[in-house]
Amino acid sequence: MKRTKIVDIFNPELLGKEVCVKGWVRTRRGNKYVQFVALNDGSTIKNIQIVFDMNNFTDEQLKPVTTGSSICVEGILVESMGKGQTCEIQAKTLEVYGTADPEAYPLQKKGHTLEFLREKAHLRPRTNTFGAILRVRSALAYAIHKFFQEKGFFYLNTPLITASDCEGAGAMFQVTTLPLNDLPKTEDGAVDYSQDFFGKPTALTVSGQLEGELGATALGAIYTFGPTFRAENSNTPRHLSEFWMIEPEMAFYDISDNMDLAEEFVKYCIRYALDHCRDDIEFLAEHFDKGLIERLEFVLHNDFVRLTYTEGVKILEESGRKFEFPVSWGIDLQSEHERYLVEEHFKKPVILTDYPKDIKAFYMKQNEDGKTVRAMDVLFPNIGEIIGGSEREADYDKLLKRIEELDIPMKDMWWYLDTRRFGTVPHSGFGLGFERLVLFVTGMTNIRDVIPFPRTPNNAEF
Ligand code: 4AD
Ligand code: MG
Repeated sequence: MKRTKIVDIFNPELLGKEVCVKGWVRTRRGNKYVQFVALNDGSTIKNIQIVFDMNNFTDEQLKPVTTGSSICVEGILVESMGKGQTCEIQAKTLEVYGTADPEAYPLQKKGHTLEFLREKAHLRPRTNTFGAILRVRSALAYAIHKFFQEKGFFYLNTPLITASDCEGAGAMFQVTTLPLNDLPKTEDGAVDYSQDFFGKPTALTVSGQLEGELGATALGAIYTFGPTFRAENSNTPRHLSEFWMIEPEMAFYDISDNMDLAEEFVKYCIRYALDHCRDDIEFLAEHFDKGLIERLEFVLHNDFVRLTYTEGVKILEESGRKFEFPVSWGIDLQSEHERYLVEEHFKKPVILTDYPKDIKAFYMKQNEDGKTVRAMDVLFPNIGEIIGGSEREADYDKLLKRIEELDIPMKDMWWYLDTRRFGTVPHSGFGLGFERLVLFVTGMTNIRDVIPFPRTPNNAEF
């Protein structure tokens, strides 16, 4: 008999009909006359209740049906008397696919802490919480492609192995096949990378932007959506060593077009999740964050405040607030500063622009003042920076000068400079940290809980 997914079973047209469901047992309870099993197959947060009339089944048959075991049941779908459910299945047949020894299966009870579940990341997708988060994550990924495809942007795949450090932070994971305990050396004692796999030093990408610009200055508007890697030693609830980033890049966009797109884009994603993942978001709101749905709606219904870094710093300085990191013009804003602006001062998402050039990457368009660049960071409640972007420096000479000032190895950058040599155009783009968006939409507070298998310093299990 054909299996029905549990997400499709709560359908009045199926009442009275014979159905087949397959999944993992969440709980079993009952007595010698009747046994109730809550079954989940991952297609929805909801469980289907299966009723075993013990006149038709033996204790022996039900014995392996413990939390975590996998079963197939055929039976009749009937209306349920129990509260909290509309229908249940009266079992006719039971097949046990796989047992789960109660002594060994770690997910016995509800209410495991998130920390405990991080240690069990291989099984945590089977919990309500992680099922919900992973379904929301998947829906958001779909929404992102849908948004850009419907706008005529092209999906561009940029390389994961690269020789250039886009953000210039030097926080790259090296990729090599050289024998680490017997490195080939040149005459002057340096590592001889000509013998390495690519014939030069390479690393995992920190961003697809530079190649994205090549796409945008050919196809007009592109977006990337892929993993990026950062070897910063930041152990915070908002940093991963491997995270996914969406980077649109558009020819003929200036900074305000860029801001408009960023705002429309995140609102679209949030709307999509609210419309398509209601059960999961309601579950997460109920269990972790009572204000979640209100906060999501709030972001949807308010214009983001736009102001310059300089104005932002002035507000922070005049706030009278004692910050852990003192504020003055020129500092890289910390999460406490960003959150003050968003959560306490404006009480709205904020887009800060025109940052000091010394704290931003080399490729950003230089302002007339000689001090700032046309950067934009989108700051969100509870998250801080969710998007970072800029208008790009389109002028060859200015870009080259900045590359030289910062001592960026020129020979690695020749292909990038060619975009400014041949048919250069004003263009802009930004990067959205996918996990930061999932954090915001799910109301989770630790980024390790919104990616299936987090990679952080000292942690590469699973
Ligand atoms: O601000 P970032 O470093 O900007 C770039 O990489 C640009 N190349 C983007 C562009 O203009 N195309 O990173 C962009 C976003 C941040 O706003 C943040 O949301 C996220 O990526 N992000 C991280 N997310 C998780 N863990 C980390 N270690 C992250 N670093 C940045
Ligand atoms: Mg940034």
